[in-house]
Amino acid sequence: MQKTRRLALLLPGGIALLLGLDAALLLLGLPAPLTTERLPDIHGVLLVLGFVGTLVSAERAVALRRWWGFSAPITLGAGAIALLTPLPIEAGKALLLGGTLAQLGVYAALWRRQPAAAIAMQIIGAGLAAGGAALWLGGAPVATTLPWLVGFLVATIAGERVELSRVGGVTPAQEQGALAATWALAGGVVAATLWPAVGHVLLGAALLALVAWLVRHDVARRTAGATGAPRFMAWCLIGGYVWLTVAGTIWLLAGHVPEGPAYDAVVHAVFLDFVLSMIMAHASVILPAVLRTPLPYHPAFYGPVVLLHASLALRLVVGDLKAQPWALQLGGALNIVAVLSFFAFAVTSAVVAARRARPARPATSAPEAAPSPEPEPARESRLEIVP
Ligand code: HEM
Repeated sequence: MQKTRRLALLLPGGIALLLGLDAALLLLGLPAPLTTERLPDIHGVLLVLGFVGTLVSAERAVALRRWWGFSAPITLGAGAIALLTPLPIEAGKALLLGGTLAQLGVYAALWRRQPAAAIAMQIIGAGLAAGGAALWLGGAPVATTLPWLVGFLVATIAGERVELSRVGGVTPAQEQGALAATWALAGGVVAATLWPAVGHVLLGAALLALVAWLVRHDVARRTAGATGAPRFMAWCLIGGYVWLTVAGTIWLLAGHVPEGPAYDAVVHAVFLDFVLSMIMAHASVILPAVLRTPLPYHPAFYGPVVLLHASLALRLVVGDLKAQPWALQLGGALNIVAVLSFFAFAVTSAVVAARRARPARPATSAPEAAPSPEPEPARESRLEIVP
């Protein structure tokens, strides 16, 4: 029953993902299963706050273990669904803002429980999400809110990596370095909004400083040579850091790029490759924590990850840099195939594992036999899990 409720919690995020990808086809000028006038305009926010925001906040609500913590994923999910309906778009925007504020409340409670640099970084991330949602509600175009959305996910994911790096021996003093880089990132976001030309350069520099910290201290460096799931996670992380470096370098060298190929490159180097790589890396931790269903690693997971990186390289290098529209469309379509196939593999793997976890029925099935127990609950403290 609890599993059904948690599945329902993630459902709006799943719908946001599918319709966000549908909108991506429309933006690429390709045929899409569903077409509405609003879809292309909401593609970015639907995916960042509707899909990733719901997923992240559901996982944090589970970690908090307080009923009210679930108000964040519920409100973000409701905001995503409202955006997809004919309701005034402001309704969806307001719900998304409400969801980000609820998420701030969750982090504040987590901070009271454990006042660590990693949580402070995630609070900064949630603050940036709320700032971006407020700007969008106030009428700012998505391109203006972009640094806020980037800051949200980069600070959140970096904070989670710092949290996990503790078990790899990172000291509290070293964690302060990551926190300082995250404050610089937040400063860069504000500067990019107030003084776009110079602000984006500062934002690029701060992003590179944070990536440098992660590359230097993340346990992924050590586990890249391991086998199985730890190696898979490590290579996803390393791939994500490479693309985050590309985004930071574009902002550092080109400054404000509000549209065109460089805009597409920055947006998707961050959101598609860094963020989606991180989700793929952590899927076997996040989904079991939220759904209480094991998601065992399978080597087939490498297929979508390699396809994601290769198709993004085609899209950005040949499509954006060399201005070849066919490469933009082909690379973009393959990006979508990569994302969908990863989730298809993950769902299949979880279903097979859940079936295997069920004990075989005894030959003489007595009516009073005990019902099959739920599979072993996943560990909820990610500090216990070393990639
Ligand atoms: C999976 C394949 C994807 C494809 C093919 C795709 C395609 C596109 C295209 C063609 C644009 C317009 C770019 C431009 O105006 O120059 C765009 C914008 C954008 N995309 Fe994606 N996208 C994908 C995934 C994602 C994901 C996963 C996210 C976030 C998690 C995302 C976030 C954004 C954002 C924030 C914008 C800017 C929107 C705006 O300015 O209105 N995209 N995308």
